[in-house]
Amino acid sequence: MAREYNLTPKPVARVETPFRRIATDFPVPQSIPILEKLQAYEPVAMRGQPPVVWDRAEGFQVYDAWGNRWIDWSSGVLIANAGHGRPEIAEAIARQASARLLTNYCFPSEIRSRLVERLAGLLPQPLKKVFLLTTGSETVECAIKLCRTYGARVGGRAKHVIVSYEKAFHGRTLGSQQAGGIPALKEWMVNLDPGFVQVPFPDGGRSGSTFEDFERALAEHNVEPRNVAGVILETYQGGTAAFAPPEYMQALRQWSTGHNALLVCDEVQAGFGRTGTLWGFEHYGIVPDLALFGKGMSSSLPIAAVAGRPDVMDLHPAGSMTSTHTGNPVCCAAALASIDLVVGEDLAGNSRRVGALLHQRLQALEARFPHIGGVAGKGLVAGVACVVPGAREPDGDLAGELVETCVEKGVLMFSPVGPGGATLKISPPLVITEAAILDSVSALEEALAEAVARRPAAAHR
Ligand SMILES: Cc1ncc(COP(=O)(O)O)c(C=O)c1O
Repeated sequence: MAREYNLTPKPVARVETPFRRIATDFPVPQSIPILEKLQAYEPVAMRGQPPVVWDRAEGFQVYDAWGNRWIDWSSGVLIANAGHGRPEIAEAIARQASARLLTNYCFPSEIRSRLVERLAGLLPQPLKKVFLLTTGSETVECAIKLCRTYGARVGGRAKHVIVSYEKAFHGRTLGSQQAGGIPALKEWMVNLDPGFVQVPFPDGGRSGSTFEDFERALAEHNVEPRNVAGVILETYQGGTAAFAPPEYMQALRQWSTGHNALLVCDEVQAGFGRTGTLWGFEHYGIVPDLALFGKGMSSSLPIAAVAGRPDVMDLHPAGSMTSTHTGNPVCCAAALASIDLVVGEDLAGNSRRVGALLHQRLQALEARFPHIGGVAGKGLVAGVACVVPGAREPDGDLAGELVETCVEKGVLMFSPVGPGGATLKISPPLVITEAAILDSVSALEEALAEAVARRPAAAHR
């Protein structure tokens, strides 16, 4: 939900804990010229995040240049899985940069060979071929291309339908946004491709959670199963952090195999330990035909990947699936170093253990505040749904207020996401400690108590 932040500094309470420090008014008065310059030269669309001017970020903390320090619940936007500013990653980047190979397009490089081998080695069968790209949206575009190419090959041109999910987010490019399930984001496209259909996500909501709902929705869209080229879903929905039931995913896996449709897991958020397992699809006991990665892959520089079945990945002949910055050597160095940290330090394990504490504390808040309508997610990703008590309608105003107050208390969050802009998304770097989780949840608890106290009594339980 679009929101702009007020750039007039206001006094806020000073905060000092072992992990957080707020020592100035907010937004910081000295930061205003920088914020104004950004407003002057960037499109309005770039104004959606709290006005914290990042100066330095290390581990699970973000610092500005004026003495403030936040516990980071954003990881940027789920990028810094191995932690911000890790020296191992910075040194790998510097080493590669000083080796004077800054780019090589699709010409071979030794470091690209190492990265694709490393990824294929970590991924289960049959995800053994890897195509490197730069952004998550590009991986979705590539998956759409592969699904449609595969569909036409095995079933003729009628087999071209891409099935995806309501409320899904897969990126902002033409194809990735058509695969997305948020109608408001597609208005600019004017002419939608009828070969993209969305079915309800099985999150237990109004639209159900059983696999029969999937088949029924396809029939309602007049889609013959034999014409489906691919089914794509976020391993968990980014807007809410909701997972599908494992039985649903197992049935979907069987259905896709049975109808010779490719199953694509968009792991751009879920990959590299975020959910407490190295890959998010492990929670379902299935392996997709294609898996898409980005964000947390390097914890830093832009790099993304499509991994898949060799017969699918090899559908296009030499030179026909390329990208200018594919496998940029400096980005490969960052990814290799980050993967070594995620695997070597068992950050998926830390995500599972510390995430369990996070979820337990959030559930305790849900029990105390009827303004929380549910807590979803696994490991170190959580979606906290803000609702109007009683009505249980999404309360985007409350969510926005909570993000602002948390930031003023030294917990950095990105703006609310999901239906009605009412989900607080919590996704700290996977190196966060239990003590920092307790400290940051206590700030959210204070923010909730203050927001509830400001609301009319009728809105209380
Ligand atoms: C699940 C998912 N897929 C794809 C994307 C798009 O990635 P990018 O912004 O790198 O293009 C995102 C970004 O938020 C995402 O969360």
